[in-house]
Amino acid sequence: MSETRVEDYIQSTGDQVHRYLSGLFPPDADRRPERLFEAMNYSLLGNGKRLRPVLCIAAAETFGVPRDVVMPAAAALELIHCYSLIHDDLPILDNDDLRRGRPTNHKVYGDATALLAGDGLLTYAFELLAQPLPVAPEVQLRMIRTLANAAGVFGMVGGQQADVLAERTEGSVELLQFIHTHKTAKLIQASVVIGSLFAPLSAAEQAAVSLYGEAVGVAFQMVDDWLDVAGEQEQLGKPVGSDERLEKLTYPRLVGLDETLRMAEEKLAEAKRALTDADVHAPLLFGIGEFIVHRNK
Ligand code: IPE
Ligand code: IPE
Ligand code: MG
Ligand code: MG
Ligand code: MG
Repeated sequence: MSETRVEDYIQSTGDQVHRYLSGLFPPDADRRPERLFEAMNYSLLGNGKRLRPVLCIAAAETFGVPRDVVMPAAAALELIHCYSLIHDDLPILDNDDLRRGRPTNHKVYGDATALLAGDGLLTYAFELLAQPLPVAPEVQLRMIRTLANAAGVFGMVGGQQADVLAERTEGSVELLQFIHTHKTAKLIQASVVIGSLFAPLSAAEQAAVSLYGEAVGVAFQMVDDWLDVAGEQEQLGKPVGSDERLEKLTYPRLVGLDETLRMAEEKLAEAKRALTDADVHAPLLFGIGEFIVHRNK
């Protein structure tokens, strides 16, 4: 799939996800306290790339499932992601002031509301994914379990804790691999796994999609760390140099910038190989993988 076609796909699918997200907590809904919903919408409806829901939809479409069926699940992934960004930016974690080109949630609403807005998004993600969906109950349970595992202590929460503990330490590649797979790759992996669960896949196809997700997830965080050094704040919509300020354990710190990108390319090749080896024809997933590694924001 050509680069422009993939970028168009990501843009138009992301726009559609955005419209769906705008309908979740509309201003006219019976919502109280108003400030909490306002804070949730502030982060949810910011200018994000929507890569997790896009990956979820792309995985489903790869196996012939129409996107409207997948939309609540895709949205659930973005809710978890947005919650993680709000909490990640809090003064007690990364203490960042800029996100998606705007002041971070706690800068606008204060720490208490930001914390609760994150909690609200996290919990609502499961309400969304547990609503009646056109799949067998055991498949839906598997989706819910996949998401909980990816977001929780065996996934992102565990990874975030390891990330904080690794600040100002010497660290190791082994520890950094743990951090990347848990804080970032697990949710990206869950995105494609959940999308593909809407279709009747063979065990081999399912395993291939899962391997693809983990590998592009790790590549995603490698590039995020690279951009934190070599990117432009204007493009990124978040500060450059945040990792250095906090003395985070990152690949640029351990192996340098060029080697970080080389490793991300290697992960992308690994992701593609997993699909090819299982005879999964997935030009969309190939293209989104390319986008993840070659992005500038
Ligand atoms: C940033 O994710 C947080 C990480 C897991 C590295 P994204 O780069 O996907 O952020 P948005 O959603 O586009 O703002
Ligand atoms: C965060 O990693 C991963 C999350 C689970 C939110 P980073 O701390 O590097 O993400 P950014 O750079 O602030 O977006
Ligand atoms: Mg962080
Ligand atoms: Mg951060
Ligand atoms: Mg970062």
